[in-house]
Amino acid sequence: MDGRALAARIRQQVAEGVRELKERGVVPGLSVVLVGDDPASAIYVKNKAKACEEVGMRGETIRMRANTTEAELVAVVDRLNASKQVHGILVQMPLPRQIHSDVVLRRIDPAKDVDGFHPVNVGRMLAGDREAFVPCTPAGVLVLLREYNVQTSGAHCVVVGRSNIVGKPIMALLIQPGTDATVTVCHSRTRNMTDHIRQADIVIAAAGKPGLVTGDMIKPGAVVVDVGINRVDDASHPRGYRLVGDVDFDSARETASLITPVPGGVGPMTIAMLLRNTLQAAVRLAEKRAA
Ligand code: GUN
Repeated sequence: MDGRALAARIRQQVAEGVRELKERGVVPGLSVVLVGDDPASAIYVKNKAKACEEVGMRGETIRMRANTTEAELVAVVDRLNASKQVHGILVQMPLPRQIHSDVVLRRIDPAKDVDGFHPVNVGRMLAGDREAFVPCTPAGVLVLLREYNVQTSGAHCVVVGRSNIVGKPIMALLIQPGTDATVTVCHSRTRNMTDHIRQADIVIAAAGKPGLVTGDMIKPGAVVVDVGINRVDDASHPRGYRLVGDVDFDSARETASLITPVPGGVGPMTIAMLLRNTLQAAVRLAEKRAA
């Protein structure tokens, strides 16, 4: 499944929406806050800012030092909540140890929470409320499955990983009426995980463990979605590492009917969904202000 190509089409649709909104005098704006200097986060944040500019949005990156206090970060969130130019706020995770991410995520105005991490949006999504901002990676996975006409209704999906960012929200989306999957969630304490995975019509790997899912674990013809992005050392690479998913692609592609590559699968979809959420936030805030 080619996430790069689909993401490019979605970005074009978003760019069209941005043009329309600009004609009404509103320039959608996303502010991304990066605390500290985690190299992977720095790359994600750079890609997000670049993607914003490419669709005509205002993209702002706020970089804060690694020893930033919780109070300082909360003050920045408050300022962004109050700004009329800012429609979407994203605080890049993970945060340094001295900051409680719960406190920060709860502080973001739910109407600007384009990550969908605020408890209000988490609750709305669980309740099936269409007003919810859906977290970008889970949203991207579902759009990708739909694009490739993967039958989710009645299908058995096995999700590997139970993070708040991916595993739990994917589970919630898959069981909603309209998607109608049967879901098993596996995690680090699951017994006989291979037995579960073997039963799956759709496997969604989101555990952050390279090579966790191999071809022999997959039912022939199953659909495999790899959400993992892991750095593994590779001296033959100019950077000294390469990116791999949680799935051993070479063996899994032999048994799967459809599979996402890493990179070029779920990753680009995540950014496309972020842009879509930001446009949606801007449209809603513009409508509220006009009313
Ligand atoms: N870290 C890894 N994925 C994400 C994401 O989708 N949003 C934020 N804010 N941080 C992340």
